[in-house]
Amino acid sequence: MSESFLADVRAGLSSSPKSLSSKYFYDAAGDALFVQIMALPEYYLTRAEMEIFATQANDIVAAFDQDKNVQFEVIELGAGDGTKTVHLLRALLERGYDFEYIPVDISANAMQGLERDLRQQLPELNINPKAGDYFEMLGELRSTKHPKIILFLGSNIGNLLDQEAAEFMSSLAANLMLGDKLLLGVDLIKSADIVLPAYNDKSGITRQFNLNLLQRINRELGGNFDVAKFEHYAEYDANEGIARSFLVSKLDQIVTLEGSNDEYSFAQGERMKVEISRKYDDKILGHILHGSAFDIVDSFSDANRYFTDYLLEIVS
Ligand code: AVI
Repeated sequence: MSESFLADVRAGLSSSPKSLSSKYFYDAAGDALFVQIMALPEYYLTRAEMEIFATQANDIVAAFDQDKNVQFEVIELGAGDGTKTVHLLRALLERGYDFEYIPVDISANAMQGLERDLRQQLPELNINPKAGDYFEMLGELRSTKHPKIILFLGSNIGNLLDQEAAEFMSSLAANLMLGDKLLLGVDLIKSADIVLPAYNDKSGITRQFNLNLLQRINRELGGNFDVAKFEHYAEYDANEGIARSFLVSKLDQIVTLEGSNDEYSFAQGERMKVEISRKYDDKILGHILHGSAFDIVDSFSDANRYFTDYLLEIVS
């Protein structure tokens, strides 16, 4: 990890405008801050998706349309702390389905916690967690011939550019079989007064979450970022449907990484992009799926229509 982390950080700091990848937010400190974000009053996404699972788990399980006599796999990409998934897993267990739950996450730390929690909450669950980058693990999906239900929840897809999301959907589809399904949770386009506070909360947790990326670079790559000299800034354009987060340099400064001669100069007010959070509608999702073997077969939304879990199926 740290080699690609170093390479990505060097590339991002050398580019113009500067950027860092949000996939590096999630070390132990980042995981803990993200758990706090999910509980923030402003961060409606997790609650909206939780409501969908709490109230519609039976309908979702029925729409999975699995044969009770055939074992299948439920593979969750970017499972995190998995709190939402419990409703679905419980509904599947209660109905006597025969399945293995395979949560995958870049954070080994999160996977250990999830396994411990689920073994307590659902002792009968057959769970086989995997720690790793799910982009790199798609090829492994082919290693078993069991039917598959992929869970990609929490609008995690929204942290990808549309082009990257389309490529991801195509490679995911290419590694699945006819009839396999994907439950894709996405945040819907809505007004800035709802979306923006979710990325700029009053208590400053999102600010800490983003600044932790600089602290992680200091810890793991010997960087000398002074986090007090950067500020968090978020913007959202409802026409486009994309929230963007930046770290903004408060003054002219130079940052170095240990063991390299590179110097990165920041001008006062210079913005470094650290995350995009895409919001969706049917049309945008349609563009992303275009050319992949996935078709939308069903969808489940919360009462406010803030969030939708789309059920997609491999149809060709
Ligand atoms: C993980 N991902 C979907 C979150 C989001 O909403 O884009 C990450 C996040 N960033 C700031 N707050 C939450």
